Amino acid sequence: MPFNPELCRNESEVESKLIVQYLLPQLGYTPDTWHQEVAVGSIRLDFLAFAAQVIPFVLDANSPLSVVMEAKHPKQNLNHHVLRLRHYLTSLNVRYGLLTNGKEIRIYQKLHTNIQLIFQCSGKEVEIKIDEIKTLIGRESLKEGHLVDKSKVQIENNSNFETKRQHSMKTIAIYHNKGGVGKTTVAVNLAAALRKKGKNVLLVDIDSQANTTFATGLIKFQFEEDDNLRELNVYHLLESGDFNFIPEVLRTSDYFNNPEIDVIPSHITLIEYQDKLNKILASRSRLVTKLKRVEDNYDIVIIDTPPSRDLYAEVALITSDYLIIPSDLKPFANQGLPTVKNFVNQINESREMMGKPPISIMGVLASKISTNAKFLQYNFPKQREVISERYQLPLMEAVIYDRTALSECMNQTITVGDLEYPDPKSIIKFAELKTSAQISAEEFNVLADEVIQKLGID
Ligand SMILES: Nc1ncnc2c1ncn2[C@@H]1O[C@H](COP(=O)(O)OP(=O)(O)OP(=O)(O)O)[C@@H](O)[C@H]1O
Ligand SMILES: [Mg+2]
Repeated sequence: MPFNPELCRNESEVESKLIVQYLLPQLGYTPDTWHQEVAVGSIRLDFLAFAAQVIPFVLDANSPLSVVMEAKHPKQNLNHHVLRLRHYLTSLNVRYGLLTNGKEIRIYQKLHTNIQLIFQCSGKEVEIKIDEIKTLIGRESLKEGHLVDKSKVQIENNSNFETKRQHSMKTIAIYHNKGGVGKTTVAVNLAAALRKKGKNVLLVDIDSQANTTFATGLIKFQFEEDDNLRELNVYHLLESGDFNFIPEVLRTSDYFNNPEIDVIPSHITLIEYQDKLNKILASRSRLVTKLKRVEDNYDIVIIDTPPSRDLYAEVALITSDYLIIPSDLKPFANQGLPTVKNFVNQINESREMMGKPPISIMGVLASKISTNAKFLQYNFPKQREVISERYQLPLMEAVIYDRTALSECMNQTITVGDLEYPDPKSIIKFAELKTSAQISAEEFNVLADEVIQKLGID
């Protein structure tokens, strides 16, 4: 009978049956070349195997060719352990890391300060893939080929592994109950920056002001009779559990950004429908259910929310895995933070009833921040401190400064015949046309990198 590590029942069986009894010997590591439960400083590795025998082993810039192996419980999602593996490989200067829960086997290679997936297969396939694994991290090939960049060996479609991507779709709500703090500006341009970095992004507008819908260029009409959003928008997703699924409701916003972004539009009529939705308990979980059906299509979903504690804000926070709270860090915005926290607590109760974990607060994001040098030197550091000290909220490292280009790009127009139509651009696309917008675009790129890192999906 073929060896099937998917039958491992717990972490210690993954360690003993898959790693100790199968992988290490198959890969040519004799018992004197690997160590279990290795503590290096504050780091505790499950396994560390060496291609060259060195006693005692040293991990420094010239550290021997080695591979870290981490075993997880079969129920653990490996995505949640990638950041930690990155930390191990980069801080110990180890070139290869194998991560497995028995059901899935992944191999990562360290590249400078990051790691890259170079192999992935299911547990069932381990025997037929063992030669490939050997080529990458086998003892002999590690000794011989240590100068070869194995990331080039990246095997496309290397397995029948079900998931196309290495991670699951993540949903982020951009919320603060204070109005005008830059929620929409952040939602739209963060989505654009993530898209430009190759992520598949879905942007959801759940604010009846429909500013994200406008900012992504979906309101091109000038007259009510041309309004093509009224009959199919985010409300319709919430209205029914059986109809109006995401592919039917979404619009592709092509002129606004390159590559284009999928957007679920909103509409002013959301206000009048709120009472109706309020009476249907299920309306709160319909976005969750409908997003689940498209989870293979997107890496990241971003939800722009209204500046209130209404049903729509509730839906957004119930649906999201993460929360970003844009704030200009001024007193009024700060005074709203306890309300945000209370709201989050209340939402977490509903989430618990739905069997969902609490929403993870990615942080307060300093937004619309003055670029005045004195302000940045004296006031801004104090304002940042207050967020963690007085409000006990995490603060994101990225900062979105007050830049005229950000309102300018949203207010671009195009003239067709005698009529002027809105033709908004993301800051990322605008920066390709106008050099003065580049600095702001770069600030959004930095934010996108931080988000990707915090989601653990790079
Ligand atoms: N970083 C920035 N630099 C310059 N202008 C900005 C910046 N962020 C937002 N603005 C401008 O401030 C105004 C409010 O921004 P935005 O609509 O993004 O805030 P909001 O929090 O979504 O508001 P609401 O609560 O009404 O939804 C807009 O005119 C926008 O162009
Ligand atoms: Mg807004």
